[in-house]
Amino acid sequence: MPHIPSPSPADRRAAPRIGRLFWALALLLSACALAVVLASPDLVQGARMVIRLTARTSLALFLLAFTASAWVRLVPGPGTAWLLAHRRAFGLGFAFSHALHLVAIVAFARLDPAGFAQQTGVANIVTGGIAYVFIALMAATSWNGAVRWMGARRWQWLHTVGAHYLWISFVVSFGKRIPMSTAYAVPVLVLLAAMGLRLAGRLQARGRRA
Ligand code: HEM
Repeated sequence: MPHIPSPSPADRRAAPRIGRLFWALALLLSACALAVVLASPDLVQGARMVIRLTARTSLALFLLAFTASAWVRLVPGPGTAWLLAHRRAFGLGFAFSHALHLVAIVAFARLDPAGFAQQTGVANIVTGGIAYVFIALMAATSWNGAVRWMGARRWQWLHTVGAHYLWISFVVSFGKRIPMSTAYAVPVLVLLAAMGLRLAGRLQARGRRA
């Protein structure tokens, strides 16, 4: 197993600068989840509504972080520069939103084990569990010092593989619901467009270097 050095005191000092945007997102997401629970006829319905709500808020925040570099490359300007500068807050906002997804999943599983078993399976829990490991590792290493601490290659590997694993998780989770409602094709198409945008951004950067 490769040796990873402990964070230096400078790295530790640089670590927890999360920013106001993240806290605003966390507050808004928590308030929306609470409002949804209060408006639901019972706690089981409330948990299920929060699962659906946070799947969608997670998608929006994930897409902002996932496409930020591509937007700057393809459409340089103050708006896209702002997006890139706040990519970490959107990434952490996504992690927060998905933590709420997990809290609601645990509540649903405890309040209605039979209903939960109908909605999920072992494969779902294993692949979803792997996604949560990526989310936790990516969130924990989203500060500047982590790149120095882990080494640029390992950091890049974790964040690239993790982001693509999450992209696939979203495509599968929304895609498998298309037979229930064709409206689920919309997020799948948006996810495909986001991947196209990233590829176009990469190609343009490569073209410039060449
Ligand atoms: C162990 C991990 C996970 C479990 C057990 C789980 C469980 C569930 C359940 C039970 C639902 C259906 C809720 C309902 O309709 O009542 C759901 C919906 C969903 N989940 Fe998760 N989930 C997990 C992780 C993830 C991950 C990692 C993603 C994506 C990155 C994701 C994305 C979604 C999406 C897109 C929906 C559909 C929401 C909608 O109907 O609009 N889930 N999840």
